[in-house]
Amino acid sequence: MYSSMKLFACAFIFAQLLGTIHCSSYDTTDNWVISDKTYNFPENAVLGGIDSDGYYSYVGRTDYASSVLPARVRAETGYATFNNDSLGKRAPYYELLVSNATLTYHWVRSYDGFREKHAVSVGTTVQDERVYVCRAKTDGGIFIGTLYLSKRLCFIRDESFPLRQFSKYEVLVRKVTPIHRAAINI
Ligand SMILES: *[C@@H]1O[C@H](CO)[C@@H](O)[C@H](O)[C@H]1NC(C)=O
Ligand SMILES: *[C@@H]1O[C@H](CO)[C@@H](O)[C@H](O)[C@H]1NC(C)=O
Repeated sequence: MYSSMKLFACAFIFAQLLGTIHCSSYDTTDNWVISDKTYNFPENAVLGGIDSDGYYSYVGRTDYASSVLPARVRAETGYATFNNDSLGKRAPYYELLVSNATLTYHWVRSYDGFREKHAVSVGTTVQDERVYVCRAKTDGGIFIGTLYLSKRLCFIRDESFPLRQFSKYEVLVRKVTPIHRAAINI
């Protein structure tokens, strides 16, 4: 039911002799669904923030320059943006993270690239580093951003704003509730 749009994003690294193929990979631990404005917006998409125009922003992912990166997605328009540690752009395609009865998502406070238990990874960079989903308050909203543990910073660059970097931020983590406990909680 849940299929990944693309399992790998590959690039030739010409700097290396023999032109080795370098691939980043999409993480398959969580459920991500292909989406765009021609699909119904999934009810169980994961809310991440609110942008400065007052639109809710949902957790998505896309790839750019052979790295898989978190994306910010507006439900109303399907408009999606992303950033890495330097640039911010519009995402031409993306997947949305969805929860289910036993798998839910939460934001926890974190700092300095600390490796939180059960943090959600979108996939890897071309250097094979896992990329995590963070968020912070800035520019009149709460923005989903890109967390590289090695850089110890959450990077946020929404299209119209300058690059922001946070050493204190929130990280998206998953919570698995066993089915019998889920039933008791209802
Ligand atoms: C971010 O994108 C720029 C432009 O493609 C690239 O030069 C830079 O290496 C990227 N950063 C990371 C951490 O991949
Ligand atoms: C929720 O998604 C996870 C991961 O794909 C899966 O293992 C689990 O069975 C799903 N739970 C339900 C209730 O569908």
